[in-house]
Amino acid sequence: MSEFKFTDYYHNQVTLSFLDHPYSSAPKHVWVICRLDNQWLLTEHARRGIEFPGGKVEKGENAEEAAVREVFEETGGVVKRLQYVGQYRVEGKGGTIIKNVYYADIDRLVKKDDYMETKGPVQLKSLPEDLHLNERYSFMMKDQVLTYSLKHLNYL
Ligand code: GTP
Repeated sequence: MSEFKFTDYYHNQVTLSFLDHPYSSAPKHVWVICRLDNQWLLTEHARRGIEFPGGKVEKGENAEEAAVREVFEETGGVVKRLQYVGQYRVEGKGGTIIKNVYYADIDRLVKKDDYMETKGPVQLKSLPEDLHLNERYSFMMKDQVLTYSLKHLNYL
C-alpha cells in the first residue's frame, strides 16, 4: 500500500506515504529518526517531552538542510548520512501541515550549552513498549507515523 490514513494523538487526520514527496515538493516541516552507536538519538522537548528531532524549514534552506540543522540544534548530533523515508500530512485545527520523515546516521554528538527549546539529547537502546501511554513522550511519537516508518526501515 502506498498511503496510510489514521488519526493522531489529538484526533487530527494523518496521511502518510513512502512515495517520493507525494504531497509537496517543498514541505515546510521535517522529522528525523536518528541512529547513533546502535542506539536511537532523540531530544527532550521542554513542553512536549521526548521525541525525534525536527521542526520547521527556514527561509533560504531546503528540507534536507533543515533536517541536518534541527538534529544539531536539538541534540548536538552531526549527521553523517541522511535518507528520505516518506512524507505525511496532518489536517489540524489551524490548517494542514506537510512533513518529511528522514532517517539519519549520526556521526558524533557535540556537547553544547544551548539546545534551543529542548533539554538536549536522549539516547535509548530501544523505544519503550508503552510509548503511547507514557507521558514523558511527545504526542509526535504516539501515532502510526513512527510505527509505519520503523517498519519501512525494517526496525519492527
Ligand atoms: P511552534 O512550533 O511553536 O510554532 O508551534 P505550532 O503549534 O504553530 O507548530 P506547527 O506549525 O509545527 O504545528 C501546528 C500543529 O500541527 C500542531 O499543533 C500539531 O497539532 C500539528 N503537528 C505538527 N507537527 C506534527 C507531527 O509531527 N505530527 C502530528 N500528528 N501533528 C503535528
